[in-house]
Amino acid sequence: TTGKVTVDPGFMNTASCESQITYIDGDEGILRYRGYPIEQLAEKSTFLEVAYLLINGELPSPTELDAFITRVNRHTLVHEDFRTFMGTFPRNAHPMAVMASAINALSTFYPESLDPFDDDTVELATVLLLAKTRTITSYLHRRAVGEPLLYPDYSRGYVDDFLRMTFAVPYMQYDTDPVVVDALDKLLILHADHEQNCSTSTVRMVGSSHANLYASVAAGINALSGPLHGGANEAVLRMLTDIQKSGDDVDTFMTRVKNKEQGVRLMGFGHRVYKNYDPRAAIVKSKAHAVLQALGVEDEMLDMALRLEEIALNDDYFIERKLYPNVDFYTGLIYKAMGFSPSMFTPLFALGRMPGWIAQWREMMKDPQTKIGRPRQVYTGATARDYVPVENR
Ligand code: SDX
Repeated sequence: TTGKVTVDPGFMNTASCESQITYIDGDEGILRYRGYPIEQLAEKSTFLEVAYLLINGELPSPTELDAFITRVNRHTLVHEDFRTFMGTFPRNAHPMAVMASAINALSTFYPESLDPFDDDTVELATVLLLAKTRTITSYLHRRAVGEPLLYPDYSRGYVDDFLRMTFAVPYMQYDTDPVVVDALDKLLILHADHEQNCSTSTVRMVGSSHANLYASVAAGINALSGPLHGGANEAVLRMLTDIQKSGDDVDTFMTRVKNKEQGVRLMGFGHRVYKNYDPRAAIVKSKAHAVLQALGVEDEMLDMALRLEEIALNDDYFIERKLYPNVDFYTGLIYKAMGFSPSMFTPLFALGRMPGWIAQWREMMKDPQTKIGRPRQVYTGATARDYVPVENR
């Protein structure tokens, strides 16, 4: 009621940091950005407005929002040499490896935006990252399919122009489907921040050495690429494809999961914090139906995913372990219907998470209590012993 969350001291002993950005109640399945429930933001807000909220702590006024959108849009163009740099990677390179390299390389093209302690410089880096990550993400797809890198159109919205830059054929009119624009905008909102997850903790850890924002976020992108984290959305589609190819029915697959066969996990299920339904997964699941229907896409994998969920929600093995669908379980099916290849799913996660990483890095840099990240360890290695020359071994 006072607006302040009181925290059990015991919890504080395990918490990695204090933050005012995102609140999660894993048992209740609650997620709030700066106090606003994710369900309300997903329904009523837009990605750039949520980015402003996460970074600045308050919803913008109409004037503030308009100025922010205009400023981000004006920075979506990248240096011509940067486009050349993007073209030097092998076409079959995994987009996450290219994305991490590209984001890190931005610091070399925009050296005027590196000082982590100058407010105007940090504001510039914030806008450059939000703007150019959108352009870079579209280039990841264009490179992979061998199509020319398009230039941004400042007159179009953030998501609308991202889709045009990704899928348009040069010199041909490209009209986006408003259902797809809306669905992708909501998916980016749902991914925008999530407290101290693996990649955000990485961004904070790297930033705690006073590394610049690009270097810190590039490290976060690498952490996100792992299949237990952001790479899970691509792993879900791989799992569904393997089930389809194997000819197994989903019941047989679930038996293999419960038998813990080597490497067989129900990807897109489980969470370090949510021991209830991930509130984002519920919203994504509802969007999946709407997008596939609007695109006239019949995908038996959606039926397969729904069946897997139905089995898991009624099977003691999953119930006892509190395994529920997480944000990654249904997102890949939507991205696939939009025309993205599976290797583009995690870069889309990174595009969404960008404002959260920026907000968390800025909060940490502003905190006078911040010390360089230096976890201690419990040493379990050899006790003290004397060196033995190689001739005596
Ligand atoms: C994200 O932290 C965040 O906020 C992350 C994220 C964000 O927005 O940043 O929400 C995004 O990363 C979501 C998670 C995406 N990952 C996946 O979907 C990969 C599949 N999930 C799992 O690997 C796993 O659930 C984790 C890594 C997500 C969480 O693992 P935990 O909580 O550490 O669970 P655990 O490994 O300790 O397992 C507990 C039990 C084990 O069985 P027992 O040894 O007790 O018999 O649950 C089992 C595990 O074998 N288990 C699973 C399972 N996840 C856990 N069994 C089958 N399938 C799974 N997915």
